[in-house]
Parts: sequence; C-alpha cells; structure tokens
Amino acid sequence: MENTLHPKKVKIIKTEQMSSNFKLFRLKPVGWEFPVGNSGLIFTPGQFVLAGLWGYGEAPFGPASSPYERSFIDIGVRRTGNVTSALHRLNDGGDMTIRGPYGNGYPLNFLVGKDLVFVTGGCGIPPIASLIEYVIARRERFGTVYLLYGAVTSKDLLFEERYEHWRKSIKVLLTVDKPTPDWKGHVGLVSELTREIDIKPRNTAVAMCGPGPMTKALENILRPLGIADRRIFVSEERKMSCGIGKCQHCTTGDKYVCTDGPVFYYDQVQGNWD
Ligand SMILES: Cc1cc2nc3c(=O)[nH]c(=O)nc-3n(C[C@H](O)[C@H](O)[C@H](O)COP(=O)(O)OP(=O)(O)OC[C@H]3O[C@@H](n4cnc5c(N)ncnc54)[C@H](O)[C@@H]3O)c2cc1C
Ligand code: FES
Repeated sequence: MENTLHPKKVKIIKTEQMSSNFKLFRLKPVGWEFPVGNSGLIFTPGQFVLAGLWGYGEAPFGPASSPYERSFIDIGVRRTGNVTSALHRLNDGGDMTIRGPYGNGYPLNFLVGKDLVFVTGGCGIPPIASLIEYVIARRERFGTVYLLYGAVTSKDLLFEERYEHWRKSIKVLLTVDKPTPDWKGHVGLVSELTREIDIKPRNTAVAMCGPGPMTKALENILRPLGIADRRIFVSEERKMSCGIGKCQHCTTGDKYVCTDGPVFYYDQVQGNWD
C-alpha cells in the first residue's frame, strides 16, 4: 500500500464474528491495488493501517493476513468505543477506508536463523497471526518456532480455524484463565507457558503483542532465561490520530508509537506498558 494520508476505499468481502466482541473483516481495494514492496510484501507484520468509516473517524489496526497476499488484507476489530462499534455494524459488501501501512513492523531480517517465540494475549493476536503466516511461507529460514497464546476462556481464543494449519509448521501452546468443562488444555497465565518451551536462549528472538500486565509478567521470565532485551520486540498500543508523527496523540515516554514503533525493543518501552 502507498504510504499516503489519503484514505482509500475498500470493500468488505468477508466478515467473521470470532468472539462476542471481536470481528474479522477481509478487505479488497476498490479501483486501486496494494503496492508491493521489494521484498514481495504489501506490509511488514506489526505495521498498522488506519481503517475508517465516513462520519465516524479512523482507528489503527495491525493486519492479520499474510503480507504476501496481494488481493486482500484481514483486520480484526475488538469493539471498544466509537469507531470500532461503527465498524462492527458493517457486514459483507459494506465499504470502509484504509490508509497506510504505517510504523516499523517486526524486524524480519533479524529473525532469520533464530528460534522464535511469539507471545500474545486476547485481542493482541492479529499482528502475530500475520507474522506466523510470514514465517510459515519462509519456514526453512527459522529455527524452532513457538506461539504462546492466552485468553480469558476458550471462546475468546481467536483465529481458531488457523491453528491446524499453523501446527503443521510451528508449536502452538494455548492457555485460558477460566476453563469451561470442554477445555482440556492449560489453565493459567500465558507467561506460565514459557516452562514448556525448548529453545536456545542465546539464539532466540521474542515477538510480543498483548496487554500491559502480560508484557510486564514476562520481564521476570525472559531475562533469567538468557534472552537479551534487544532480542525481545514488543508492539505498543496507544490512541492515534495522524499516524505519521504530527499530532502527539500516541506518545509512550519520549517516543511516538506511530513512527518510532509500534514495535520497540523491550528496554525502550519498559515501565510504559498500557
Ligand atoms: C498500532 C496499533 C495496532 C492496533 N491493532 C489493533 C487490532 O489489530 N485490533 C484491534 O481490535 N485493535 C487494535 N488496536 C487498538 C484499536 O486501535 C483501538 O481499540 C481503537 O482505536 C479504539 O477506537 P474507538 O474509536 O472504537 O474507541 P474510543 O471511543 O476512542 O475509546 C474507547 C476506549 O478504548 C480506549 N482506547 C482507544 N484507543 C486505544 C488504543 N489505541 N490503545 C489503548 N486503548 C485505547 C480508550 O481509552 C477508551 O477507554 C491497535 C492500536 C494500535 C495503536
Ligand atoms: S498518531 Fe499523530 S503523532 Fe502519532
């Protein structure tokens, strides 16, 4: 996608209500094409787009689809307020706008040759889902790869229909806070899943996207494991307006999440978890 301030029209070609408050939208450009970068990607996993609806405004979302997919992008929207509630009222065939992609994304070249641990909780999974699709498409370039994912109940685990496909290439470890009678898996915090991983810590990179308490809890686990802060990448969420470093709506400490991030080294944003 062209990095322009002008929102472009997209058509919703598929929607999926993934949980009570999370809806997936598959978006196809109308009258334009996603520009393809030198690497063959239309965005870098971890970058964000601003998706909007005339009369309501825009909000940032990390695409969840494969960055190699050129005909559509998927965004997953948790209903929290004004814009996201308006987006939730849209269905197949509806129109919205997007602009971007913006921000830096996860450092794809740095991940090559390493064991990878992706850690996410609740609705933080979309950019990690995209990163997983990227890694699977280039699977031979990476060592052992884990997804550690936690949610409140099994009904809140998102992108469930992709797990079978993911499990053919990476190790998927799931946990819930509150088990239902049908849940046979792990119960507890996502940070506890680190006990089950078998990696080479000095050649491991971690990518995270999730709530502040999850990110903070991992501090006392990843460092003692021997994973250096500069091999841990955290995606930060802040309120945004312009998306291009002009309005100061998105600061974390002295950094702009929209242009310096949203992906930061762990020690760059430590203590500023939202
Ligand atoms: C880089 C980035 C990527 C994101 N990716 C996704 C995604 O893939 N899927 C998804 O569902 N959400 C994502 N978000 C969060 C999403 O942008 C917000 O939930 C959305 O902006 C809320 O807009 P609203 O108008 O509905 O809510 P508002 O009416 O603006 O606010 C409703 C409530 O949400 C809080 N809030 C609003 N925006 C944010 C924010 N950015 N961070 C923390 N709290 C906020 C407000 O303080 C308020 O309590 C992302 C945010 C960022 C910065
Ligand atoms: S959103 Fe405007 S400066 Fe970051």
